[in-house]
Amino acid sequence: MQRRKIIIDTDPGQDDAAAIMLAFASPDELEVLGLCAVAGNVPLSYTSRNLRIVCELCGKPDAPVYEGALKPTHRPQVTAEHVHGRSGLDGVALPEPVMMVREKHAVDFIIETLRNEPAGTVTLCTLGPLTNVALALQKAPDIASRVRELVMMGGGFFEGGNITPAAEFNIYVDPEAAKIVFASGMPIVMMPLDVTHQLLTTKARVAKIAALGTHPAKVLVDWLAFFERFDIEKYGSDGGPLHDPTVIAYLLKPELFSGRECNVEIETQSELTVGMTVVDWWRVSGRKPNATVMREVDADGFFALLTERVGRL
Ligand code: RIB
Ligand code: CA
Repeated sequence: MQRRKIIIDTDPGQDDAAAIMLAFASPDELEVLGLCAVAGNVPLSYTSRNLRIVCELCGKPDAPVYEGALKPTHRPQVTAEHVHGRSGLDGVALPEPVMMVREKHAVDFIIETLRNEPAGTVTLCTLGPLTNVALALQKAPDIASRVRELVMMGGGFFEGGNITPAAEFNIYVDPEAAKIVFASGMPIVMMPLDVTHQLLTTKARVAKIAALGTHPAKVLVDWLAFFERFDIEKYGSDGGPLHDPTVIAYLLKPELFSGRECNVEIETQSELTVGMTVVDWWRVSGRKPNATVMREVDADGFFALLTERVGRL
């Protein structure tokens, strides 16, 4: 099987960290060309630091890490320390990273990589706000036709929102960026809350990760314990939804997911519903489908994959 070339754009975040660990634990299937930090869960200084901490935890101190947008394209920064902690990776104390970021801006890295690699061979994996991808599209519109797929965690429809009743955090932080991306014509696979809310870090599932007994697994368990506390309180569930690893799991085992081609539009005007992903699931609008919106997932299969792969780190 040919290795799939990917760029990960991320705002770590404990769940972003789980996704990155899953990617690095799958070198036979995935070639990580670079990782881009974007402001999101916490400011860029922290997402950049956190991204490098995760790379070093995975034994990848040479991974190409780039810093991207300091803030959303049009709006003031909104962060989520209430979920992820002040650092964005609260839950376990790890040493400050030694590895440095690369000089190049993440937006330029995305553009140059898409232009230098053969068209249709690079997959963009976004785990945070779509600011970097939107800025790249604005600077180089030609890249839209060169992307193999954009697989993104973001949005919600039947499940509503998580930062407002209508909006999911990644879209809410930069709805104008999301609007640009969904209008770009690039092939999009959307992992919304409708999928991630089925993926609860239950005690039984976390116990299997802990039973791996490795340092990376222990760190992940501690991150999940911190990360899930907010959602357990909010949803009253056994564990919290694990969002970002769905993006990588889709690349490794797409059969875990099912959904349909839909039109998705982004609300950017209404104060009440800004950031809402308006998913035309029943195809009543007549608008052209622009994304594959996932709705079902094999939750046990997802956690079995995550656990098995994390055990390889
Ligand atoms: O709404 C969940 C998303 O927002 C996840 O990507 C999480 O890391 C936060 O960025
Ligand atoms: Ca994220």
